[in-house]
Amino acid sequence: MKAAVIPAVNSAWELRDVPDPRPSAGEVLIRIHACGVCSNDVLATVGALPFPSIEPAVTGHEAVGEIVEVGSGVRSRQVGDRVGTTWVRSGCGRCDYCRLGLPVGGQTAMNCPDAVQTGFTAPGGHAQYMTVNADETVLLPEQLSYVAAATVMCAGYTAWSALRAGRPDPGARVAVLGIGALGHLALQYAAACGYETVAITRSPDKHELAKRLNADFVVADGEQLRGIGGADVILATAPSHAAAAASLAGLRVNGRLVLVGLDGREPFSIPPTMQYPFFAQGQSIVGATHGGPALLREALDLVAAGKVTPMVEVFPASRVAEAVDKVGRGEVRFRAVITYA
Ligand SMILES: NC(=O)c1ccc[n+]([C@@H]2O[C@H](COP(=O)([O-])OP(=O)(O)OC[C@H]3O[C@@H](n4cnc5c(N)ncnc54)[C@H](OP(=O)(O)O)[C@@H]3O)[C@@H](O)[C@H]2O)c1
Ligand SMILES: [Zn+2]
Ligand SMILES: [Zn+2]
Repeated sequence: MKAAVIPAVNSAWELRDVPDPRPSAGEVLIRIHACGVCSNDVLATVGALPFPSIEPAVTGHEAVGEIVEVGSGVRSRQVGDRVGTTWVRSGCGRCDYCRLGLPVGGQTAMNCPDAVQTGFTAPGGHAQYMTVNADETVLLPEQLSYVAAATVMCAGYTAWSALRAGRPDPGARVAVLGIGALGHLALQYAAACGYETVAITRSPDKHELAKRLNADFVVADGEQLRGIGGADVILATAPSHAAAAASLAGLRVNGRLVLVGLDGREPFSIPPTMQYPFFAQGQSIVGATHGGPALLREALDLVAAGKVTPMVEVFPASRVAEAVDKVGRGEVRFRAVITYA
């Protein structure tokens, strides 16, 4: 089969012939139709996240497709099923974290020493085929296209998990910092739930776009957010702790700042107490990541129902390196999805 191989850290992805995977007992063979390029795939390519520990290095955790073969003992899936699989597939089942019995999600990957992570510790979805345990797939809603479904497997799942972690009250105002892949979906998920929405973007060219993505207001930073009355929940999807901390200026009393973007360089610092003293605001700062299969299901269903529409740039497999490059430059509006079938 063809697969998009990352030859080494900091090198361009190459479409190469690699051995066909075969399903073992309990596994299914998926013919990949589409796989999104997550910004974390780019971070792994440049060595800012762990480089895939698999040979050949094939990443991609927004994989969706059709089951074409099932291994022995599989009962929950059949040939022809439309499925997807996400970043974190399982924990070791034995460590202190796994013994808590929590749903498998991003937390598992960051706490279990032996979690199976698609595209990092197990072959990823930027390929024509992949194998995965049947129970580590999700059935896709019938009316959902493969391209749209791919964006939900990480970007949508994370955006929805962040909104749920923010626990907005009915009638709340929800602001989204950073209008990229996660942000453009977070904005729409918040609007779909009836919250008043604000886009916080440093890019003037995204103002009109953000309104079309259901932003009721668009501002450039936390001070401007404060100027329009602030927000009860801020979903910080920008890869910058500094930008997230600056947004606190626009967080209402008793509000929640949800950190979902990754910043591997700078610490998160609460601004000095002189202006809007954090100690007196009753605010919370929480992290969020893929929150478990039930949240993935909800995220998929809202897209399938037409309440959230991912904005994508679709590339054929032959142009995967160009897509990765464009994602790295932050120029994709808003998720690059590669088609493999
Ligand atoms: N928690 C998780 O489980 C999880 C899962 C997936 C991804 N992530 C992380 O989530 C973040 C967003 O991912 P994505 O795929 O949505 O990325 P993306 O498409 O590149 O979007 C990020 C957006 O943040 C803003 N931004 C970028 N650099 C910035 C900076 N230095 N300062 C302030 N704003 C900046 C930009 O929006 P504007 O132009 O509107 O300002 C950009 O479009 C990344 O850090 C990624 O690693 C986390
Ligand atoms: Zn991702
Ligand atoms: Zn474990």
